Amino acid sequence: MSDTQPSFRSEQINPGDLARLVDVLDRQAALPGIVRLRSWAMLALAPRPGEHALDVGSGTGSEVQAFAAVVGSAGDAVGVEPNPWMRAVAEERASEHASSARFIEGNAYELPFPDATFDVVRCERVFQHLADPERAAVEIARVLKPGGRAVVIDSDWATAIMHPGDPEVLSALSGSMLAATPNPYSGRRLAGQLTRAGLKVTDIGSQALLQESDATGDGSFLRVMAAMAVARGVITEDQSTALVDELAVAAEVGDFHMSVTMFAVLAHKV
Ligand SMILES: C[S@@+](CC[C@H](N)C(=O)[O-])C[C@H]1O[C@@H](n2cnc3c(N)ncnc32)[C@H](O)[C@@H]1O
Repeated sequence: MSDTQPSFRSEQINPGDLARLVDVLDRQAALPGIVRLRSWAMLALAPRPGEHALDVGSGTGSEVQAFAAVVGSAGDAVGVEPNPWMRAVAEERASEHASSARFIEGNAYELPFPDATFDVVRCERVFQHLADPERAAVEIARVLKPGGRAVVIDSDWATAIMHPGDPEVLSALSGSMLAATPNPYSGRRLAGQLTRAGLKVTDIGSQALLQESDATGDGSFLRVMAAMAVARGVITEDQSTALVDELAVAAEVGDFHMSVTMFAVLAHKV
């Protein structure tokens, strides 16, 4: 995202963005594609009572709570999150649910744990925001115990589809999104990165993150993307308005499609 748009990047943390970012994560967490891929990841990781589990870039903390519910009081469920305001939201939500999930400050580039600390590690939709995802993969491998399991989930923005719309405007919008994302093709690169980090990739799952047909309203991802493309000068304000209007009309007649494919890579430390 550009400097003028809310950003998930750790170099661009801004307390004023928090409400928008939490809203985006909450809306996405409710989408069937995310629900299915998270459920796939949890089955693949198969955390057990007493194990130590880590979520890197834990956002609102829901998946750390899910870990905590399984590993129990004999285990440990930790989220690492560099955004202090996001971390506070996660802590508050965990406390509301009487969860033992805990959250600590840290960065995927330098996880604040000794080698071989965790039985399971997950990291969801974080690598796309990293300029050096290879380093994060090495850190995940380092903190895993021998025999440990990791799942890294991410989108690949070359798979983004939007329908209907003027092809030239859609192409400019897509180019702007790719240019504004530090690691836009993250999804296809995960298996190689984890393999180079010394892990053994054993399975890959995928799901399309399909936006609902009401995804054209104020504050929607579509409007944020369109505003970003206007700010970057790749489409005009009129083109942005025409596109959003066309998609909104299409949504009313059931002819709306907006998606990006996410990949989830399961790897083991041998
Ligand atoms: C798109 S959100 C995903 C949050 C959560 N994993 C989920 O799936 O809902 C990206 C998260 O990664 C965090 N993040 C960004 N850069 C990071 C970094 N260098 N190390 C760790 N987390 C980072 C952001 O603060 C944000 O919480």
